[in-house]
Amino acid sequence: MDIPIQVFITRKIPHIGIEMLRKEGYLVSVWPEERPMTSEELMMASKSTDILLSLGENKLDAYFLQQNQHLKMISQFAVGYDNINIPEATRLGIPVGNTPDVLSEATADIAFGLMIAVSRKFFFNHKMIIEGGWGSFKPMAYLGQELSGKTLGIYGLGAIGMVMAQRCQGAYGMNIIYCNRSSNEFAEEKFNAVKVDFDDLLAQSDVLSVHSVLSDETRGKFNAASFSKMKSSAIFINTARGGIHNEEDLIEALNNKTIWGAGLDVTNPEPMHKDNALLNMENVAILPHIGSATVEARDGMSRLAAENIISYLKSGIIPHCVNPGAIQ
Ligand code: GLV
Repeated sequence: MDIPIQVFITRKIPHIGIEMLRKEGYLVSVWPEERPMTSEELMMASKSTDILLSLGENKLDAYFLQQNQHLKMISQFAVGYDNINIPEATRLGIPVGNTPDVLSEATADIAFGLMIAVSRKFFFNHKMIIEGGWGSFKPMAYLGQELSGKTLGIYGLGAIGMVMAQRCQGAYGMNIIYCNRSSNEFAEEKFNAVKVDFDDLLAQSDVLSVHSVLSDETRGKFNAASFSKMKSSAIFINTARGGIHNEEDLIEALNNKTIWGAGLDVTNPEPMHKDNALLNMENVAILPHIGSATVEARDGMSRLAAENIISYLKSGIIPHCVNPGAIQ
């Protein structure tokens, strides 16, 4: 009798993917606690499974991978995979799948929402009411900025950036510029988007929204030097990874009015400390990394993470594979 394939899932995820895996006859175990696994717990669980279904919170570094060379594949429940040492996984022949596209609408909504929340100081005003500060009408207080006809600069124009561009152009007729390694011809045709270099992106954007991966190239990319090249009226939005901006430099840029405002769904570190200066700034809106937190997106991620596994075991093909070089 064949020994069933074992799949270990490092957090409770929507049931749809778990059901799909069980229907294939795999032995599926799920970490039952409402907290991330420690590295020791993860190491122990990984030793006795064939396939790991991981989350961004699991640090799968070179040491971890070397200790778990028996893994047939890693299926990441996220579009981002900066928690995994991909070159090492590839070297060891461990393919990694991810879950793109299904969370693009949800994540772009957060970028779009943060942009409006910052431009009209939503979070600051909400907090002010809670603290009993709603006084008389003040003609010169709480003034925001309007977004119509402004320029949206996108750093990393992939699937999520495309939805953000669509939202911003549809709602506000915004001009779209973008900075990417390669041209996005579809965006150029659909949105009249113009590819610019990084310095022009900084200089021309009224709203600069980050949608890139976190990599050696993008880590700390938005720092004091970058902020100093932006408009003093600019709004900085990051819904990608907190490591792409330097948070100390961002605080300073906002304090010095080098830039006007910021909206973050990702911080550095996460979780953000409750005493962080950003939380008390008038032109700032912070969310706790909820880009993909909709029923639709999380169900889609669960389904894709399972599909990646099932397809690989049945046909050797991972529909969304981040390191095809790992597959012989
Ligand atoms: C969320 O941050 C993801 O990478 O899916």
